[in-house]
Amino acid sequence: MVRIAVIPGDGIGPEVTAEAIKVLHTVAACAGKDVDTVHFDYGAERYLRDGVSLPSDALHQFRTEFDAILLGALGDPRVADMKHAIDILFGIRFGLDLYANVRPVKLLDRRLSPLKTAAASEINFTVFRENTEDLYVGIGGIFKKGTPDEVAIQESITTRKGVERILEAAFSFAVRHKDAKVTMSDKSNALRFSGDLWQRAFHEVSRRYPAVEAEHMYVDAMAMMLVKNPSSFQVIVTSNMFGDIITDLGAELQGGLGMAASANINPEQTCMFEPVHGSAPKLAGKNVANPVGAILSVQMMLEHMGWDAEAEIIEKAAGACVREYECTGDIGGELGTREAGDAVCRRIQSLAQGGAGSI
Ligand code: IPM
Ligand code: MG
Repeated sequence: MVRIAVIPGDGIGPEVTAEAIKVLHTVAACAGKDVDTVHFDYGAERYLRDGVSLPSDALHQFRTEFDAILLGALGDPRVADMKHAIDILFGIRFGLDLYANVRPVKLLDRRLSPLKTAAASEINFTVFRENTEDLYVGIGGIFKKGTPDEVAIQESITTRKGVERILEAAFSFAVRHKDAKVTMSDKSNALRFSGDLWQRAFHEVSRRYPAVEAEHMYVDAMAMMLVKNPSSFQVIVTSNMFGDIITDLGAELQGGLGMAASANINPEQTCMFEPVHGSAPKLAGKNVANPVGAILSVQMMLEHMGWDAEAEIIEKAAGACVREYECTGDIGGELGTREAGDAVCRRIQSLAQGGAGSI
């Protein structure tokens, strides 16, 4: 029995999460495995009601009682400063020290790419975004706020340990994936100190993996190359801020934010899985949001838990639905969120039956 903590969150979060959970239960039932899902109401509604964003015992509970966390999306126009979203999202990423934000960019159907020339097989790489440091650490402040002399300081932290462990995660992933090439991206021509640390750590870690090709690319050049020649990338490893930016670019290459999945990993911890998209308040409650990013986040969750066959069947089913237009309007279909989720479940069931009862 595995136990999954589910945080549907705000906006379209609950809608896409419901479909992802439906897919999870379907694939588990086909495999004859037990999954228990427990919902947590963390999000804007609860925050506005009783001032609680992430309760103080939540991390302990996740760590001790659950095998994984599935998050929908956070953000609500009624909470202008995103306080609750930051508390919950960063509370879990930082609090559980989930240092590797793993974001695959895989084009499931050629028609979804904004690039004229891209064949589906040409866009298939994985970004390892450092997830616990950099400009995201929340160190700084505002001096003389609201006056003409105001000054804002936002510190960026780069540690040897932090850089080394994300590099290790990227290289060991590359080894498990046929010695794929690893491209490290930084801005060491301008950011001299953090860049220097990244460079040295990269050379050291890459020496431990002689079979893996290691290349370096400044992040501005990478933004260009991701559009010009995305097939040249297999594994990308970079810092938190740069990773945030290039994974939105990556999401667009694979059909938009609705398609992108992610995993927040620390092998020693309860890990969190979430679609890359936000809460899209304008789409909420209309049954139009694309559930594929959330469904593929469940796929990543199952892979992480060692349910390889079940993960693979989800990928096959979701890919087939996308290619056969059994999907939402943003990717060319005519289905609602729920119906798109149902279509994936139906394909899972028929793939499971076709496989002589086992998947
Ligand atoms: C992401 C998001 C978050 C981030 C936001 C919502 C704080 O853009 O997960 O990529 O910057 O990490
Ligand atoms: Mg982002």
